[in-house]
Amino acid sequence: MKTIDEIIEAILRNALAREISIGTPDGEANRHAYIQSFEGEGERKIRFVVDDLEALKEAGLLHPHRTVAMSIGGADGSDVLALMKRMNLSAGVLLEYDNDAGLNAQERTRDLREDGSLKFSVVIGDAMQKLNTALDKAKSAVKDADTLIVLCFGVLHELPKRSPNYTHDRFFDILFSAFPTVMVYCAEPCAQPEFPLGWPQSVELGFPGVKADRLAGIARFICDRLFVGKADAPEQRGQDLVRMNRDLAVELLHKTLRFSSVDRFHHEMEERLTSFDVQSLSSMLATRIANLEQEIAYRTSDGFRKEYRDHGVNVRDERGAALPIPFTHSRLILRRFAQSHPQLQRAKAEAADFAPPPVPTKAPAVADPVSAAGAPSAASGSDGGKVNISVSNQAGRDVRSTVTNRTFTFNK
Ligand SMILES: C[S@@+](CC[C@H](N)C(=O)[O-])C[C@H]1O[C@@H](n2cnc3c(N)ncnc32)[C@H](O)[C@@H]1O
Repeated sequence: MKTIDEIIEAILRNALAREISIGTPDGEANRHAYIQSFEGEGERKIRFVVDDLEALKEAGLLHPHRTVAMSIGGADGSDVLALMKRMNLSAGVLLEYDNDAGLNAQERTRDLREDGSLKFSVVIGDAMQKLNTALDKAKSAVKDADTLIVLCFGVLHELPKRSPNYTHDRFFDILFSAFPTVMVYCAEPCAQPEFPLGWPQSVELGFPGVKADRLAGIARFICDRLFVGKADAPEQRGQDLVRMNRDLAVELLHKTLRFSSVDRFHHEMEERLTSFDVQSLSSMLATRIANLEQEIAYRTSDGFRKEYRDHGVNVRDERGAALPIPFTHSRLILRRFAQSHPQLQRAKAEAADFAPPPVPTKAPAVADPVSAAGAPSAASGSDGGKVNISVSNQAGRDVRSTVTNRTFTFNK
């Protein structure tokens, strides 16, 4: 294992001096290595999706033979293929920008597709520009399909920068208009939630044996390239610490703790891993998509946690109090069931039997998802349902408390 000081030395000596961009031979090699690093990862990544879908199936809310799965930015498609197998889904679509990864998925499934035992299409292209093409494939794959399951793993944080004309509202409007029942499972590296859940706005960061001026050099490099207008310049504090914006600190930790080579560092410098704000996205969706259920979970990835501990990272607030390991990833589960679903009607009727008389409110302008299919969903209020926050302690036990109309899980 390289020490953090060796990593910092490698970055300061080589990385700051050179620029590598996509299109150069080095850039291509990096891109290839980057895409390869996601190969075969799908099986592991879909576990939380399978848990959720199994529960829905048991409740009579999921019918695999009428369900199509789609992965957006799914690299080799191992996520959607694993999901189809685990849940016995009737068809799947992969929408992937990278040509090699898409062709790889096509090649690996050729025999099964040709003998008719697998209904699986690959659409190679940009997530926003080819979304309707991919959805058309999903609709035509199964007669009477009424449910779409979408996997977005590690791609939503990239799309605002990489996909022309991408906006979250446009993307989700199209997805939720495509089928009567839509479930979207997102897992993304993310921005820190607000203190006290996450870190305070400004933190002081240090590594044992690393001089503050060297650390400040890297912090400034990342700040100048990825945080223009988003964070103040990092400030050296004494011999060992650098004060900086919390997301800049986590970005620096991603880029140093997970450092593998100078070339890879350059590739990683093309994107910010702390740009995705799951709570803003969730609030925006709550105002646009009627009857939407949402669950948010924050996590720290195992790899990050290990490196953080092994390198003895020291982070404190401005008054000197030690801060816990940050969150690195968020999961967002979105479910919108067809409102005519008999199981849903029964649950609503049962709830009404126990509910106090309703307080009259302005009727929400809710677009019926069935009739809205094919058209962008109308702006509408959320259904004002209960809001749960759940926090997992170190032992992974859930502690739940009801707070707003979305569900949060915090898993450190
Ligand atoms: C961080 S990787 C994640 C891969 C895979 N989903 C996983 O979690 O292992 C991001 C993926 O999104 C794809 N991607 C990036 N921009 C895209 C775009 N504009 N349209 C479609 N896919 C895109 C990349 O090619 C890559 O496969």
